[in-house]
Amino acid sequence: MVSESTTVLLDGKQLSKEVKESIAREVEQWKSSGGKTPHLAAILVGSDGASETYVNHKVKACEQVGFKSTLKRFDSSITEAELLNEISKLNEDRDIDGFIVQLPLPDHISSDKVINAIDPKKDVDGFHPENVGRLTLNLPAYISATPFGIMQLLKRYDIETSGKYCVILGRSNIVGRPMSILMSRNTNPGNATVTLCHSRTTDLRSITKQADILIVALGKPEFVTADMVKENAVVIDVGITRVSDESAKRGYRLKGDVKFDEVAEKAAFITPVPGGVGPMTVTSLLANTLQACKKEIYK
Ligand code: GUN
Repeated sequence: MVSESTTVLLDGKQLSKEVKESIAREVEQWKSSGGKTPHLAAILVGSDGASETYVNHKVKACEQVGFKSTLKRFDSSITEAELLNEISKLNEDRDIDGFIVQLPLPDHISSDKVINAIDPKKDVDGFHPENVGRLTLNLPAYISATPFGIMQLLKRYDIETSGKYCVILGRSNIVGRPMSILMSRNTNPGNATVTLCHSRTTDLRSITKQADILIVALGKPEFVTADMVKENAVVIDVGITRVSDESAKRGYRLKGDVKFDEVAEKAAFITPVPGGVGPMTVTSLLANTLQACKKEIYK
């Protein structure tokens, strides 16, 4: 008898809706017992289309769960010193629980300096070295939003990660590297054996083919093809690149890093793009902001 295996879509849109509802309930309770309204601020420099979209999603999500939000927009000509001054103002502002600086920043501004200037207690993106260090040591920390969202998806779908072989493509500070640390920690999800691959990795396919869990965060549309994937693997696609397409309403389409149709035929679980990891990222930022407001990480 031939057994038919079905592929499960990891529905980030649905899970994000559920998590937002749960955050909204928690906010209600918190406020009715005298707690302050959680307040997230975002700094956006310049007018990059994708960054504008992401920040707008974050602001809208704040409204949905009963948070206050403040969007501070600056022209791309802002100097590094001026931006650092804006960050100190947000660090000092007692009403703001957490804030983010949307990346990438213009070339004349050092993102390292900017991230270092954020008060770790308000660093709800989890990018500050103190939070990355805490995460690495398994201490309470803000976990950066995309890896946190992926962990929630794995948990929600009861995906076994303990003892599994997890391969991550891409070593960015925002996704690949923290993801590699989270998956190797002694937690659930976690306890995986992890390989972090990057642009200098040789014979990539021989590595990806062994992965029980394959997490792809390269920003290279349709890079992962079916021949690179093990039968029944769990495939998490973090890529979300705008590829121009005149027939599309906005003139572009969003493409993931995985060639979805052919890989979905082989995978046991796969995230769609859009509607997989993306919505979870925004939700995780809300969760971090609520923790900041309640002072749950830094007492
Ligand atoms: N640019 C791409 N992803 C992110 C993110 O999660 N946070 C910030 N601040 N910038 C980003």
